Formats: sequence, C-alpha cells, structure tokens
Amino acid sequence: MSRTITIRAMKYNPQSKLSKAHFAEYKLEETDGMTLFIALTKIRETMDADLSFDFVCRAGICGSCGMMVNGKPALACRTLTKNFPGGVIQLMPMPAFKLLKDLSVDTGNWMNGMSKRVESWIHTNHTVDISKLEAPMEPKLADETFELDRCIECGICVAACGTKLMRPNFIGAVGLNFGCMSLVACEDNCPKHLPLQSKIAYMRRKLVALK
Ligand code: SF4
Ligand code: FES
Repeated sequence: MSRTITIRAMKYNPQSKLSKAHFAEYKLEETDGMTLFIALTKIRETMDADLSFDFVCRAGICGSCGMMVNGKPALACRTLTKNFPGGVIQLMPMPAFKLLKDLSVDTGNWMNGMSKRVESWIHTNHTVDISKLEAPMEPKLADETFELDRCIECGICVAACGTKLMRPNFIGAVGLNFGCMSLVACEDNCPKHLPLQSKIAYMRRKLVALK
C-alpha cells in the first residue's frame, strides 16, 4: 500500500544576501522503487522548481548526487525511500565542500585541488613509446592496482570522515591520506564498497618503509 512521505530539504543560496537557510517540507505519494532522486525530481517538477540538487547518470556511476540523508552521506539515486520506515527524510548538503545552492555542492573543484595536492599521477623519468604495445600485467596485480579506479569521486567518504571535520586540510580517504585516524566511516559509506581502510593501511606501510 502506498504511503505519503515527507521530504525536508535544506534550502539556502549563498549567492543571495536575502537568502536564509531553512528547511522546506514537501509531501508526496511514494511509488514502487522510488529513490530519493525520483522523489526530488517530482518535487522539482510539481512543487518547487527552485530546488537545486545535482545528478547526471541516475545509476550510481557519475558521483554527482551525494547528499546528507538523515545525517548520513549517500547517493540520492541509489537510496530507496522505502528504507525509511518513519516516512520522514531530511536532506542536507554534504559538509566539507563548497555549497553552491540547497543540496548542490562543488565536489569537482575539491577533487581537482586534492589531486594536485597529492600529485596523484605516475612520477617517472621513463619515456613511454606509444608506438609499442603496452607491457603485459598479471591479472591479479592489475586487479589490485586498478581496484580504486572504481571510485566515482562522489565525495561521500570525505563527508563521512570524522578526521576531516577536525582537520580542515585533511584530504580524506579518496586521497588516501596518511593523517587518517581510522574511524572507518569512509569505507562504511562508500557506495562502491571500496576497501579504503586496507588501502590506507597499505599506504602507511609503504610510507614507513620509505623513512
Ligand atoms: S572512495 Fe568511495 S565514497 Fe570516496 S569518492 Fe570514491 S566512490 Fe565516493
Ligand atoms: S546521479 Fe550519478 S551517481 Fe547519482
């Protein structure tokens, strides 16, 4: 049997001097398989055209739709409304990122800055001859090396990170940071189930070996 759910979404436009942060409340009929993305789209189409939130793929691939859902960061397009038995769902923008408007934050520039800070590219003097075939790699080594390539840069591990809340400069699990306090919220919340803690531990072992 369908039920009426309540979405409470934070609204605030930092570009406008007149804007004041507040929660807007919307009531709508829940449909089968309704995700937060579907609910928000319905709200925008039928109740509040001004409500801002991000999405591209609607399939957990682009990493655009991260937001705080009843206090925990999650992808709106992968979160079913039926998983909230009380029927009241409070949405806020993810902390740690620049707020653009309402539920929309700028993860792109943050990720770009983080990547430059940690110089996350291969540092080598070796010149690659692109006319030659790529060197073969054992599948097991390739799996281990490219596992973290499944990251969709959604920023959820950063928004969930207790260390980040205490140290604004901390780059979070997505940057595999050495200052991590192993609170494990990054791995608990990662929508791609990446083994972030074991990879951070691996980095720590490597850094210790370098000293
Ligand atoms: S590691 Fe996981 S939670 Fe963090 S940005 Fe990548 S996909 Fe998102
Ligand atoms: S819209 Fe792309 S991950 Fe949700």
